[in-house]
Amino acid sequence: MDEKVEKIIEQHQGKPGTVISVLESVQENYGYLPQQILEQVAQALGVPLAQLFSMATFYSAFSLKPRGKHTIYACLGTACHVRGGARVLKGVSQQIGVKPGDTTDDRQFTLETVRCIGCCSLAPVVKVNEDVYGYTTTDKMRGILDNYKE
Ligand code: FES
Repeated sequence: MDEKVEKIIEQHQGKPGTVISVLESVQENYGYLPQQILEQVAQALGVPLAQLFSMATFYSAFSLKPRGKHTIYACLGTACHVRGGARVLKGVSQQIGVKPGDTTDDRQFTLETVRCIGCCSLAPVVKVNEDVYGYTTTDKMRGILDNYKE
């Protein structure tokens, strides 16, 4: 068993909410829930793998795919849509080379779409991690995303 997983399980075993706490720690340590790690967790905790998968898909905090260091949320709510949100999304998607729901190969960015993040007066809005950008355009986003690259 992976040493890191062994430690995670030791920390949480026997405590209330063991399974969810273990999954949270795996997500934190690996950035997502790798299948081979879930198999080890299932075996160690005596929990069916299917149960871990259903928890992983139910809770939005968990991801079964590798995630980027930064998450880009392009808003496609009504206000953003009518002010060109889809165009900005397309531009960002072309710029980083991935479709919504996917992560760049260098694991820098994950692109997501959202339905309104509560800043409609700034439409079209894009959020990067916790930073909100209003009145976005494809050109503006290019400069913004450059600041997040390492
Ligand atoms: S619709 Fe985009 S912030 Fe509300």
